[in-house]
Parts: sequence; structure tokens; C-alpha cells
Amino acid sequence: MENSFNQLTPLFIMVSGLRKVGLGVIGLGVFGQNHVRVYAEHPFGELVAVCDIKEDLMRTTAERYGVKGYMDYREMLRDPRVEAVSVVTPDFLHRDPVIEAAEAGKHILCEKPLATTVEDAEEMVRAAEKAGVTLMVDFHNRWNPPFALTKEAADAGELGDPVHAYIRLSDTIYVPTKMLSWASRSSVLWFLGSHTTDLARWILNSEAERVYATAGMRVLKGMGIETPDFYQYVIQFKNGAVATMENSWILPETLPTIVDFKAEFVFTDGCVYVDPIQHGAFKKFTKDGWSYPDIIVGPVSIHGRYIGFAKESISHFVDCIAQDKEPFVTGRDGLEVTRILCAVMESVEKGRVVNLT
Ligand SMILES: NC(=O)c1ccc[n+]([C@@H]2O[C@H](COP(=O)([O-])OP(=O)(O)OC[C@H]3O[C@@H](n4cnc5c(N)ncnc54)[C@H](O)[C@@H]3O)[C@@H](O)[C@H]2O)c1
Repeated sequence: MENSFNQLTPLFIMVSGLRKVGLGVIGLGVFGQNHVRVYAEHPFGELVAVCDIKEDLMRTTAERYGVKGYMDYREMLRDPRVEAVSVVTPDFLHRDPVIEAAEAGKHILCEKPLATTVEDAEEMVRAAEKAGVTLMVDFHNRWNPPFALTKEAADAGELGDPVHAYIRLSDTIYVPTKMLSWASRSSVLWFLGSHTTDLARWILNSEAERVYATAGMRVLKGMGIETPDFYQYVIQFKNGAVATMENSWILPETLPTIVDFKAEFVFTDGCVYVDPIQHGAFKKFTKDGWSYPDIIVGPVSIHGRYIGFAKESISHFVDCIAQDKEPFVTGRDGLEVTRILCAVMESVEKGRVVNLT
């Protein structure tokens, strides 16, 4: 099956008239490796370059995939074979590579959040629009099956009008203490709240009007990591719908998965409950211990090919560039999410409701 697909691919590309897009990845850490993997096997993409300021990481990745490696993304942006890039640097370091990639005429897939200030996000969107290049933000939960189906049912009119929602997306303390070296320069709001805020505005089909938020700093601060333990916030949308949101970074490491995710969406004529942690479908016990490995977010390798919804969003970007189509998550979506999350932070700081104008 897999072989026949691979043999058919060049023929399909020839018949369909689609071309292979030259792709580069800036930032080769935990998630950058996923972009590299997906690009390397995309039928309409060709991974041509990778870049990281860490020389070892850059070299091992470049060698593994047989592509050119760079330590300076500006140099990579001068490579004419690179038509499109992923920006997978830490949350607060997306701005410069995105703007410079746009100015170099490259299409861009930027990891979430687009930026951590409204000014940066506006500048990034302006740079892409001025250069006429595609800017997509990787809000991959729009490809998470239960959320995609909720949106489909809502848009089909099966549920009536949106009224209220609850979304909780949290991580175990492993993420800010062991996985991310830069947790104190970001927050659970940027890392996870960007996903859930995008889901709320997408499914409730409206833009935010006002927010009220609280946060707490105790556990992580006590460990020397200066970032809030959690945020709880209420977003009121222009169409009257209200979303209650929760993101925590201090769940115990004894949970079977590093992510905790629950949501409910209530409409005038129906509701949807989403319990998207399906890792429990695969519970592995060995003589050394046990785990519930991820099998749905991915990319997870099955029979030599990657699956998972995190692959789908990255693939969508390549599909859109190859077919000259606009992706269905844009820089403007990233800008709106950044606006809302900055208002959430302002609400925490001032202890009052913040209106988004
Ligand atoms: N880790 C996850 O599960 C995950 C999931 C989805 C999205 N993301 C997003 O992806 C982004 C990266 O996260 P991560 O977990 O991979 O972080 P990471 O720290 O593992 O990797 C970031 C990499 O960027 C490199 N880098 C920094 N500045 C650079 C520059 N100027 N040029 C080239 N490389 C540079 C660093 O050396 C590092 O290797 C973040 O915005 C994050 O929110 C992460």
C-alpha cells in the first residue's frame, strides 16, 4: 500500500501539474523536528534547508535529512531554493525571522503564538501582506478531529447559535520545568492558551469584546521559574457568547499523559462535549514501567509514515503553497489571539475587566 502510494506520487505530481515546494525550517528543537519530518515526507514538498543557532543540533539534523544546514537564518533566507519556511523558535522569538522571511519573499508557517505583543503581531502581519506572501499560524487544534467536527456541526446549523463554552488545556509540571528551557520567558497562556483562545473564537464564530482574568504564581516561582502557575479567564464575544478558559502548568507528573484537555460548547439547540485525550487507547506496560504514549497529536510514525493532527496542519501549509491557495488559518487569526491574550494579561495586572477595542 505504502509502496504503491510512493510510486504513484511522482506520476500524480506530473498529471496534476503541482510542483514541489522548497522548504526550510528555522528552529530545530522539540517541535521544529516535527516540521522537518513532515516536510521531508510531503509529496509536494522538498526539505532543502534547516537552521538552528545550536551547531550540533543543526549539523545532526542536516546530516540526517541530507540537506543544507545554517546557523544564521538570514543566510538561509538568501538560498533561492527555499520558497517557504517554518519558524519554530521559542514563543517570544518569532518576530524577526517572520518579518525577514517575508521581506525575502518566502511564505511562512509560524508556530503559535504568532507573537507575544500586539505591536509585533501587527508588524508581522503587515510585513507578510506588503510582501504578498502567505503567513499561516500553526493552530493545529483546528485539525484535532473532535474540534473540527464541532465546528462543522456548528456551521451546518445543527446546534443553533453559540451561547457559552468551557475549555481547559493544561500540562503537567514537566513542561515548564524539564521540557522548555525558556518557560520563564513565556507562560502557559502563550504556550497553551493561544491554542484554546483560537478554538473559542473559531467555534463560537466571533471576535472577543472583553475579558476578565486571574492568575496565580506560587509553585513555579518557588522553583525559580518566574511564570504564572495558571490562568483562568472569561472571554465575552461580540455575538454574546461567553467562554470560560483555564490553563495550568503545574499538574503532577504522575498523570498518565503530559496534557489535560477538556471542552464543552453550548448552543441554543444543542451542545458538544469534547474529551480529546485519547492517549488512553494505548496503555503500554513493560518490566521497566508504564506509559500512555501520544497516538493522536503526533506526528506518530505508523508503518513508516507520519500520522496525527499536528502533521495535518503542517501538511496543509505545503498543500496551500503548492496549489497557490490561502490557508484556513492566517496571520490575522494569530494577531487576534495575541490581542486577546495581551488583554488577559492586562486584566490580571489591573484586576478588572479589559475591553478590546
Ligand atoms: N514543544 C511542543 O510540544 C510544542 C508544540 C506545539 C508548538 N510549539 C511551539 O513551537 C515553538 C518552539 O517550541 P519548542 O518546544 O520546539 O522549543 P525548543 O526550545 O525545543 O526549540 C527552539 C529552537 O529554536 C532555536 N533558536 C532560537 N533562536 C533561533 C534563531 N535565531 N535561529 C535559529 N534557531 C533558533 C533554539 O536553539 C532551539 O533549538 C514555540 O513557539 C512553541 O510554542 C511547541
